[in-house]
Parts: sequence; C-alpha cells; structure tokens
Amino acid sequence: MSSFRSAMATSSFFFPLLLLFLTVSDLFVQTRGLNFGINYGQIANNLPSPSRVAVLIKSLNVSRIKLYDADPNVLSAFSNSDVEFIIGLGSENLQNMRDPSKAQSWIQQHVQPYISQTKITCITVGNEVFSYNDTQLSANLLPAMQSVYNALVTLGLAQQVTVTTAHSFSILATSFPPSSGAFRQDLIPYIQPLLNFHAQIKSPFLINAYPFFAYKDNPNQISLNYVLFQPNSGSTDPMTNLHYDNMLFAQIDAVYAAIKALGHTDVEVRISETGWPSKGDPDEVGATPQNAEIYNSNLLKRIEQKQGTPAKPSVPINIYFFALFNENMKTGPISERNYGLYYPDGNPVYNIGLEGYLPEMVIESRSNVSIHT
Ligand SMILES: *[C@@H]1O[C@H](CO)[C@@H](O)[C@H](O)[C@H]1NC(C)=O
Ligand SMILES: *[C@@H]1O[C@H](CO)[C@@H](O)[C@H](O)[C@H]1NC(C)=O
Ligand SMILES: *[C@@H]1O[C@H](CO)[C@@H](O)[C@H](O)[C@H]1NC(C)=O
Repeated sequence: MSSFRSAMATSSFFFPLLLLFLTVSDLFVQTRGLNFGINYGQIANNLPSPSRVAVLIKSLNVSRIKLYDADPNVLSAFSNSDVEFIIGLGSENLQNMRDPSKAQSWIQQHVQPYISQTKITCITVGNEVFSYNDTQLSANLLPAMQSVYNALVTLGLAQQVTVTTAHSFSILATSFPPSSGAFRQDLIPYIQPLLNFHAQIKSPFLINAYPFFAYKDNPNQISLNYVLFQPNSGSTDPMTNLHYDNMLFAQIDAVYAAIKALGHTDVEVRISETGWPSKGDPDEVGATPQNAEIYNSNLLKRIEQKQGTPAKPSVPINIYFFALFNENMKTGPISERNYGLYYPDGNPVYNIGLEGYLPEMVIESRSNVSIHT
C-alpha cells in the first residue's frame, strides 16, 4: 500500500480518483449494520489522517466511536456523518473542571463548535480515575462531572450530550459468582454518590472489562473457551441459578450486583472498552492473533444477536471494542501496543468479518483533491 501511495504522489490523480470513487460507494452498499462502538485511540506516530479514518469507519458501518480526548481534527473529519461520539475530558483536568466557569469554557471550546455537524452524545470525565489510588483525584471526579453537566444545562446541550466516566474493572473487589459482585470498600464513599448522580441524570455506568487479564493471570485455572465465548460447560451462580457461558457477561452482571448492593437498579452498565491483544510478552499467555480473532468475532456475533446478560436478558449488551488501530507509542507490555483491529495502513490484523477500506487519499469534494499521509 505504501508503494502505491508514493506512486500516487508523483503521478496523475485523475484515473485513481475515479477508481476510488467507485470503490467507496460499492463498499457503502455492501457493509452490514451492527450496533457496536470502537475506541479510536491515537497514542501512535503512524496513524492515518482522521479524514482517511472517516472513510474506513464508514466502510465498516461503525455507528459509534469513543475518543480519549476531543481532537478537533477527528470531530471535523466526521462532520455530517451519522457516527455518534463519546469524547474524553482527560483526568488531568478534573481539578479545573470543579470551577463552573472553566467547565463552561471547556464545553464552549470542545463541544459547541462541532456539535451542529458532528453527533457528540457523551463526555467521559476522566478515564479509570480510581485506578490511581489518588484520593484528591478521586474526590474531584464527581464534582467535575457535576460541573460539566451543569455547563451543558446552561448551554442548552444537556438533552443531546450526557456525562459519565469510564472505570477499570479493578474497582471491583469481588466479581465471582456474579451475584456477589462488590466494589472495593475504600471506593464506596466515591461510588455511592456517583451512582446517585448517574441515576439522577440517567447516564450509563461505563466499565473497561478485559477477560484477557483474568486469563493471563490464571491460565491453568480459567478455561480459554469460557473467556473466548467458545462452547464450554460454563458456570452457574449458586445464589441466582443463572448460567454463564462466558466471562464478559459474568463481569457485567458482577458490576450490576455491585451497583445493586449500593441501592441502585436504575443505572445501566455499558462496556467502554473490551478487546484482546494479538501479541504479547512471553508471560502474557493467550495474546495471539488467533485468540484475538476468536474473542472479537464471537463477541460481534453476540452483539448481532442482541444478547443481554443472564441477569439483564432484555438489555442488549452495549460494547466499545478496544481498539481501532495498534498504537505503537503506548508504554507497558507488548500487548498494550497490539489491541488494534487494524494496522495503521488499514490492513486488518486478523479477520473478524469486517472488511474495512482505508483510502490512499481523501476526496474533499468532486473538485478538491488532497493527499493525506
Ligand atoms: C448501517 O447500519 C445501520 C444500523 O446501524 C443500518 O440501518 C444500515 O442499513 C447499515 N447500512 C448498510 C449499508 O449496511
Ligand atoms: C490501589 O489500591 C488497590 C487496593 O488497595 C490495590 O489493589 C492496587 O494495586 C492499587 N493500585 C495502585 C496503582 O497502586
Ligand atoms: C479544499 O479543501 C481544503 C481542506 O479541506 C480547504 O481548506 C480548501 O478551501 C478547499 N478548496 C476548495 C477550492 O474547495
């Protein structure tokens, strides 16, 4: 693909332009509609431009994207598309966001200019804030969320945009059996009022859940088929008699149980991240392209079937895959840089039945061609 690109840059545009135009429209017709989201992380120095990514996303018929920031280039590239966006307000801003005027100017700067063209539907205030064990940061979370919400109300945007935050699954102290799900005791003083707020503004509780972590820590005790949604005998929750045939659904129900233990049955749980790495360090057992393909394609089938979890059978699971691209500048173990469904050149890392299309260049309009690298 890269040799094609350099040839393009030095030769006539007209023939490839026509070819591209036909190919893009063909793909729009062929793709199927599935209700899932993808995390579009950008911790990399080799990703395609947002306008090229917009074509890839449309070719996949992906209807929802989650960002970790409010990148104006991405929001502009998706103007006039049907894609719904969760945008992120970084954890480093929480202290500032307590100040109502700062929250209001953040919305005025990052949401207001784009929202008439780009469907911004949700803001995550901080990401995995409780994982830092920083009491000041944890204490700032809810006031920051309230302040951002109040700013949306003031600016008349609260009907279109909701406010939440994304948690690590490790905020649970107990997750098995699912009915015994409970939050870490030290976090309850923060989570209790947070749940009251979610219930008040009717916003979802987001959790990043990776059955891969549980498997890699205990490969001899945990069945690979159970974490990969493959046929297996599963497990039955002795308290509820509900049968679980996969770990992700058990994790979701554990979160519902932890929320219920704090008195709430009125807050929906959604998965803001899940995925499986295609590569890992030698001690990261199970990080292979085969397992990543099985995990993601089996989960996609469950989404297609609009399945709910055993405890919430009538609520279809709501999932954001992690992630769109491999991100070469993420730190940590090898797996961290290998969660992508796609390589930065637009080739799929493995086949999960989503044929994407990343153009070499983007047609800005019929008479305006520009090259993006
Ligand atoms: C794209 O997905 C939507 C639902 O998300 C569906 O209604 C539509 O038909 C799909 N379009 C194509 C071309 O598959
Ligand atoms: C935070 O605290 C929890 C519970 O005490 C502990 O399990 C976890 O390792 C801590 N995390 C960090 C990053 O220190
Ligand atoms: C071409 O597109 C660029 C980038 O979107 C824009 O700045 C420029 O005004 C456009 N030119 C024409 C002639 O439409």
